[in-house]
Amino acid sequence: MSLPVTRRSRLRDLLATPVGRDATDKVVLFSGVPAWVPRLVGGLRLDTLDRLVRPIVGEGLVDALIGLANAGLGSAAQDEPSAGEREPVTGPQPWWRSAVFAQVYPRSFADSNGDGIGDLRGIIDHLDHFTDLGVDALWLSPVFDSPNRDMGYDVRDYRAVMAEMGTLDDLDELIAGCHRRGLRIVLDLVVNHTSTEHRWYQKALADPDSAERGYYFFRDGNASQPPNNWNSFFSGPAWRWEPSANAWALHLFDQNQVDLNWDNPAVRREVADIVGWWLDRGVDGFRLDVINYISKQPGLPDGHPFVGRLFGFTGIEHYFHGPMLHEHLAALRRDGFTRPDGTTAVMIGETPGIGIETGRLLSGAGRGELDLVFNFDALETPGHTRWDDYRYNLGHLVDFWLDYNARVTDDWVALFLENHDNPRMVSKVAGQRAADPAVRVRVARLLATLLLTMRGTPFLFQGQELGAVNEPFRGIDDLRDVESLNRYAELVAGGMPAAKAWRQVLAGSRDHARTPIRWTEHQDDSSRWLRGHDRTPGFSVEAQRDDPRSVLAWYRALLALRRAHLALATGDIECVHRSRDLVAWLRSSPDETWLVEANLGGRVRRRPRLGVAAVEVLATTTGGDAARLAPWSAVISRLR
Ligand code: GLC
Repeated sequence: MSLPVTRRSRLRDLLATPVGRDATDKVVLFSGVPAWVPRLVGGLRLDTLDRLVRPIVGEGLVDALIGLANAGLGSAAQDEPSAGEREPVTGPQPWWRSAVFAQVYPRSFADSNGDGIGDLRGIIDHLDHFTDLGVDALWLSPVFDSPNRDMGYDVRDYRAVMAEMGTLDDLDELIAGCHRRGLRIVLDLVVNHTSTEHRWYQKALADPDSAERGYYFFRDGNASQPPNNWNSFFSGPAWRWEPSANAWALHLFDQNQVDLNWDNPAVRREVADIVGWWLDRGVDGFRLDVINYISKQPGLPDGHPFVGRLFGFTGIEHYFHGPMLHEHLAALRRDGFTRPDGTTAVMIGETPGIGIETGRLLSGAGRGELDLVFNFDALETPGHTRWDDYRYNLGHLVDFWLDYNARVTDDWVALFLENHDNPRMVSKVAGQRAADPAVRVRVARLLATLLLTMRGTPFLFQGQELGAVNEPFRGIDDLRDVESLNRYAELVAGGMPAAKAWRQVLAGSRDHARTPIRWTEHQDDSSRWLRGHDRTPGFSVEAQRDDPRSVLAWYRALLALRRAHLALATGDIECVHRSRDLVAWLRSSPDETWLVEANLGGRVRRRPRLGVAAVEVLATTTGGDAARLAPWSAVISRLR
C-alpha cells in the first residue's frame, strides 16, 4: 500500500486503509451493491474512478474519500495493529469483556411515586430483577437534569439528577445498591452537545465576550443563510438562528441540543472534571453518547451532496471521524477516566456511522481511547434503513458478528440487538407473525441465544428479556419522541400523504422501545408519559417469572450457563457451518468446547452434519426431531 492515498493511487490502496475500507463497505451496505464489486475493480486508479462516477455522484466524492482515508492514518492511528491473526490478550481480562450489561431506560422502567415517569427509586426497588436475571452491569440512559426535549439526551446540569427521577442521594443509594449486589453501574455521558438551557449556553448567548461563547459553534451571519449545508439528525438544517446574538449555533440533533466545540481546551477540561466527579461518586464508567461526532472538520465545510443523499444526512463526512477525534478521546481517558491508582473506568462509545475498521481504531487495546464501540451496521439488512418496514434477515446479523470477530486482534466486540433508539428485533424478524405468541417466544429465544453465545460483550435492552415487540401505536398523537414527531411533520410538509408518512414513522419510531416495562399482566399505563399498547397475555414479568418455558426463564438459563462456562463468554469462536438459514459455531477455552447450532429462518431445516460428538445442554425448542432444526431455533451442546 502506498501512503498517503492520492488521486494517482489505486482503489485497492484506498480499500487498504481502515477508513477507506469502511467507507466502501458503507456504500455497499446502503446501496445494496454486491460486496465483491469494489474488490473486482481494485486496480482502477482513483482519478479514473473519479471520471467514471462523476456524472452519477457529482464533483468531489473521490477527493472526499481520499481525505477521509488519509485522516484515518493520522498520528494516533499509526500504531494500529493490523487485522489478521488474533493475538492472545496477555494479563487478566478487563471485567467488562466477560460481563453482560443490561440497559435501563429509567423513564420507562419503574415508576415508584405514580407520577407517570419512571424514577431512581423504582430502579432501586427492582434491582433484584437484574440479579435474578444474572447480568453483571447496568447502563442507565440519562438521569441528569434536563428539559427532556430529547428525553435526557439534552443535559442542563451534569451534576444534578432530573427532578422527576429523584435526587443525588437516590443515585448514591442506587450505586451502593448495585455494588452490594455485585452489579456494576455505568451512566450515560452526553457531551457532544448540551441543552440550550445549560448555563454555559445561556452565558454564551448573554455575553459574546464570555469564555462560554467559545464552548459552542457560533457563526455570525444573516438569518436567511445558515453557515453550511449540514442537516440535523432530527430534520431540517443543523443550525439555529439566535436573534439576540445575531448568530447561528450548530446543533447536529434537535435545535435545543447545541454542539460543544471540543477543540476548545476549556470544554475538554469541563468534561474531564464531570467524569471525575461521577467516578468519585462510585460509578464504574460511562456510555459516551455519539462520541465519535465530537471533532468537526475545521471551517465546517459544506457536506458532499451525494454522501448526504446516501446516508440521509448532509455533512456527516466532516464529523463522524473528525481530525482530532483520537486525540480528544485519548485526552479524555487520561484526564477524566484514569483514576489516581492508575486504573481506568470503562469507556463505551456510542459511535454511529463508523465501520468495523474505524471502530477498531477507536477501541484497540493499548491505544488508550475507548474500550468498546457500538457499531450499528448489524441493525439493518443491507439496502434498508430503520424507516423501512421489511423483514430483517438474521443471516446478516451472524455474518456481521462473525466477520467482526474474525478481524479483531486484541480489541473486543460490543454486541446488541436493541436499545432505546431502535424498534424491537423480534418484530423486525417475524413481522406480523410475531402476533402469534408461540412465534414470538421462539424468535425471542433464538435472538437471546445468538447474542449470549457470540464472542463479545452483550448489551440487553430492558424488555428484551420478556420478548417485547413493537407497539401497535395508532397515530402520531401516541408518540412522544422528538425524532418521530419532527420526521412526520417534515414528510407531511414535503407533500407526503399523512397515511404514508405515518407508516414510515411507525416502522422506525424509537418509541417502540421506550414504552413502560410490563411488570404485571394488567398494568394500567394510562397515566404514563408514553403508553404501552401491547397487552398480549404472558409477556409481563409477573407471567414469566415462574414459568420455566418463558422468554425470561430462557435468558436466566443462558446467562447462568455463560457465567459458569467462561468459554461461552471470552473463549475463541470458530464458525463451522454456514448455509442459507443455518449457522453453527464453536466456542472454546483451553478446558472445554461448546457448539451452537441455529436455524435463523421460519422453516424447518435439516441439521448440519458436523461430525462432532456433543451432548445437548440447552435447546430453545425441546422434544423435536434430532435430525432437524425447528423454525427459529437453536441448540447448545458441549463437545465430548
Ligand atoms: C444518541 C442517543 C439518542 C439521542 C442522540 C442525541 O444516539 O442514543 O437517544 O437522541 O444520541 O443525543
